[in-house]
Amino acid sequence: MTETQTRPEPKTVPDDRKVLRVALLGCGTVGSQVARILLEDAEALAARSGARLELVGIAVRNPEAKRDVDLPRELFTADAEALVDSADLVVELMGGIEPARSLILRAIRKGASVVTGNKALLAQDGPALFEEADRNNAELSFEAAVAGAIPIIRPIRESLSGDHITRVLGIVNGTTNYILDQMDSTGAQFADALAEAQRLGYAEADPTADVEGHDAAAKAALLATLAFHTPVSLDDVRCQGITKVSADDIAAAKDSGLVIKLLAIAELVRVGQSESGKDAVEGTSVRVHPTLLPREHPLAAVRGAYNAVFVEAENAGQLMFYGAGAGGRPTASAVMGDLVSTARRVVAGAPGRTDTATRKLPMVGVDAITTSYSIGLEVADQPGVLSRVAAVFADHGVSIEAMRQTIDGGAPGAGDGRAELRFVTHPASEKALAETVADINNLDVVESVTSVLRVEGV
Ligand code: NDP
Ligand code: HSE
Repeated sequence: MTETQTRPEPKTVPDDRKVLRVALLGCGTVGSQVARILLEDAEALAARSGARLELVGIAVRNPEAKRDVDLPRELFTADAEALVDSADLVVELMGGIEPARSLILRAIRKGASVVTGNKALLAQDGPALFEEADRNNAELSFEAAVAGAIPIIRPIRESLSGDHITRVLGIVNGTTNYILDQMDSTGAQFADALAEAQRLGYAEADPTADVEGHDAAAKAALLATLAFHTPVSLDDVRCQGITKVSADDIAAAKDSGLVIKLLAIAELVRVGQSESGKDAVEGTSVRVHPTLLPREHPLAAVRGAYNAVFVEAENAGQLMFYGAGAGGRPTASAVMGDLVSTARRVVAGAPGRTDTATRKLPMVGVDAITTSYSIGLEVADQPGVLSRVAAVFADHGVSIEAMRQTIDGGAPGAGDGRAELRFVTHPASEKALAETVADINNLDVVESVTSVLRVEGV
């Protein structure tokens, strides 16, 4: 461009884009960031959505409370129902079951699409809510409900919809991953690592849902529903948290080249074959428990409060999705992705789409699943103890893959000390393992069974 040429003045184009009225329910950690993005990025969001996303109100318990983000006072209201009634799109970020459930239903029944991050509600009432959304031609999206910022719902639901997912393994709770990682890297006991997680704001004042595995179980139910196209609710998920994982378990794992992670595991299981004998009949197993993984497994490298989801599909092979599983900004990113894509659909006049469950697979109890186990025992350090313990494994058909012994005080073999034994088994059923452990516990030379942990990926 020469000096004499001037840039043409940009034309002022009348903005005839549709306006979609957005109601925000909740303005806490995530909601306040969603409000900020809606206001700060209005132009870019309009360009990407094809509609102006107008934030028409924010429902909270206390409209007068000071917020982390500076937002116009007049947007706040305590009347969530009236706000929902005035909106085209509703973003639910209150959490909990009620009033979130009633408000979502209210929105859906008037044809408004809803975006939520509420895994607790979806794991409890998801099928009923999705059905209601289908009936009313509305959409219910929930990318933020599993693993915060990580795009995992859309990849499973859309990118892999032409494949056959066989297994999903996820670190989907940042608090517990932080605690286990601290225990692994500093040798801390569970209680100290939990206190540190609370000090840093990862764990809630009441950390039960995280450390008992309930939060991960809700996410596991959602992942399984989408991956296997079958309804899975929270009650279907066998759940064990991390409160009983000790510093000794972590140290023993480390010595064996393993790491302990709280994994959500959803898998397709062959439960028989069709009458013709040609096809496998499949069932679903979904569980959450502390799991020993080889340190070279991709999930073993997930440190701190990060999340990751490892997906195995027949054609795609192994995939891993990694990132921030919580926090205001990261989770708001997932909410905004859902909001823009829902707005696009509304602008195009396309119907809402939920299609989460297209078949009903039987749930397979963990008793029918075979995995390897690590079993820790405290025994008397006496001649013949090892062979008596090994005989119990043999009696139940549980094969031992490896064994380590640590002498704890007293002269070795003198019978005045104790020894710690750690066994790793070949894959065994939970039933056979439970019977083995019960019989080992009854041996007079066994002081206690100190831990029983499942092992994956060896
Ligand atoms: P917060 O507890 O920080 O915020 C909740 C908000 O909802 C508050 O603004 C509160 O109002 C409002 N609220 C709660 N109950 C009511 C009610 N009965 N009537 C009106 N308003 C109400 O929650 P988060 O932002 O942390 O989480 C929101 C959702 O996102 C939850 O479902 C959570 O599971 C999910 N999520 C959160 C993640 C995170 O990192 N925080 C990550 C992934 C998902 P007031 O401020 O007045 O008390
Ligand atoms: N409490 C959850 C976690 C927040 O620690 O991962 C995200 O759901």
